[in-house]
Amino acid sequence: MKEQWVVYISREEIAQAVKTLAQAIDKDYEGRSLVVVTVLKGAFIFVADLIRELETPVDRIELLRLSSYGAATTSSGEVKVLVDLPPGAVTDQHVLLVEDIVDSGRSTTVAFNLLKEQQPASIKLCSLLSKPERRVVPVDIDYCGITIEDKFVIGYGLDWDERYRDLPEIYVVEDGAKS
Ligand code: PRP
Repeated sequence: MKEQWVVYISREEIAQAVKTLAQAIDKDYEGRSLVVVTVLKGAFIFVADLIRELETPVDRIELLRLSSYGAATTSSGEVKVLVDLPPGAVTDQHVLLVEDIVDSGRSTTVAFNLLKEQQPASIKLCSLLSKPERRVVPVDIDYCGITIEDKFVIGYGLDWDERYRDLPEIYVVEDGAKS
């Protein structure tokens, strides 16, 4: 139950991380506009907050939907493309790929490969969270919010079997915990 879970990252810490990320992005993209591509479902809250902090103009938002976890608390290893990009959506565009978390790195790699097929002008990656201990595929995160330990986290878009995305803070669910 939520009452028994420990707040791992508070609302204030999340808001500060989002602000810091937006400032770093604005500094790099000065004078250019962006196409923001986000990976559903987990990143939907983060991207909504991030684009409202950005001063860099966002020409377009595109949505990818990938799935790797199923109902488990560890990644299954297989990434399914549930919703792909429209054809030519990012061709010749400066793309900012926005993830909620890079864990094994598999989802991000699949997203990168889908983007590259469309030959964008550039691609950079922004992720709110990174769990480097679990990396299987190396991923270079251009804008990383908070590096976390190898713990299963939920809230602020991140789910446990589809629940708890609506929690405004990020919580750790300890092994054996029951909802
Ligand atoms: C989660 C998360 C990332 C991905 C990271 O998505 O939102 O996209 O896993 O894990 P990885 O680095 O091991 O690939 P998930 O597949 O659970 O789908 P969801 O976003 O719909 O919850």
